[in-house]
Amino acid sequence: MGEFYIEGGRPLDGSLRVQGAKNSVLPILAATILHRGTSVLKNCPRLRDVEASTEILRHLGCRCRWEGDALVVDAAGVDRWDVPDRLMRSMRSSVIFLGAILSRCGRAELSMPGGCELGPRPIDLHLAALRRLGAVIDEGGGRLRCEAPELVGRELTLSMPSVGATENSILAACGCEGTTVILNAAREPEIADLQRFLNAMGQRVRGAGTSTVTVEGRRPTRDAVHTVMPDRIVAATYLAAAAAAGGDVELQGVDYRHLSTVTAALHEAGCQIHSGGDSIRIRSQGRLRGIRPVRTAPYPGFPTDAQAVLMAALLRSRGVTVFVENIFDSRYRHVDELTRMGADIRVEGRVAVVCGVDRLQGAEMACTDLRGGAALAVAALSAEGESRLTAIHHIKRGYEDLARDLRLLGAQVEER
Ligand code: UD1
Repeated sequence: MGEFYIEGGRPLDGSLRVQGAKNSVLPILAATILHRGTSVLKNCPRLRDVEASTEILRHLGCRCRWEGDALVVDAAGVDRWDVPDRLMRSMRSSVIFLGAILSRCGRAELSMPGGCELGPRPIDLHLAALRRLGAVIDEGGGRLRCEAPELVGRELTLSMPSVGATENSILAACGCEGTTVILNAAREPEIADLQRFLNAMGQRVRGAGTSTVTVEGRRPTRDAVHTVMPDRIVAATYLAAAAAAGGDVELQGVDYRHLSTVTAALHEAGCQIHSGGDSIRIRSQGRLRGIRPVRTAPYPGFPTDAQAVLMAALLRSRGVTVFVENIFDSRYRHVDELTRMGADIRVEGRVAVVCGVDRLQGAEMACTDLRGGAALAVAALSAEGESRLTAIHHIKRGYEDLARDLRLLGAQVEER
């Protein structure tokens, strides 16, 4: 595995088309097995997590192939309902296959996803929702054995608007007899994208994007062609990169409404932002100003996945910015790495206080997780001299080619 070498101090300039969304395509890939036929997913990002999902699909009996930017999944031959431990460990969000396998096969066997880089990753809400729909789940020995000879649609309430639990509930509800109503559902745009795919496939799902989602079960399915929505977190990363390094960058193929809290923060920090059609243009002088507290929250609040990259953009700001991380327990692991560049950040529990410094110095840093790794790259662009980023496999889980994209904008980034 290579490393990134980033020479900082150059403003970014140019335009870039943003890749399809990882967090949208992963549940959609799980959903393909609901249909005994073929699904075509256009604008599918080529990522480690997508490879891991196709490995799971192949294990279950699907055939997957690339046609240009489209991933084609033929799920006619699904003949297994288990996901081996090795594949579960390769991607924590593989638990999303649980609802889909139950829908298709009436039973499922997976290993428990353990903790991850962001702290413990419980799945109690997923299991409570599936039990409510009639699944009998045994959790012994690190394995989950689920039987659901008959899934029955009901009203179910999530005690917290979990993205994954909402998606798992929707997928299981597709296999239910009758109608399921999910209350306190997460409202992330990726759930609306899953709904669009399912409906293209012949399902009847309504309400995704609001906190009440209704699913009519046991609908016949058909071949679907779906274009994966743009990745709002990748877009947020490149906006933060332009904000940090300075310059004039236009992102194309994005939905600016999905990024309103991120662009509002960057605007407050002194960037000029113009959004319209399917593009966002950002102009920045490079040195930002501190902004009001940034509190992560479920959508439409400020995304936890954009916390690290915004923090990286504010390291050289004039003034102080307070971050409050409300979604995950352990989401400041990038901070120690950033301080190697001379950043002034204090962390206490869920709060991080960033005091802007005049200059950052290029350093050797190790990526700690996907978005934390991207944040190191953003900070390196605004530092003096060269930075070396190791453990970049974290970044590759979610960015098709970060080095290529940044080079397109004029940055000096090499993978060696
Ligand atoms: C998804 C995204 C991830 C993003 C997160 C929050 C994907 C593949 N991943 O993750 O990038 O950071 O949403 O926007 O879409 N929780 C429980 N019990 C559960 C489920 C969740 O306690 O059964 C807790 C989690 O520990 C976390 C919070 O709920 O603290 C939010 O998690 P959730 O919305 O489920 O995130 P994911 O779906 O895992």
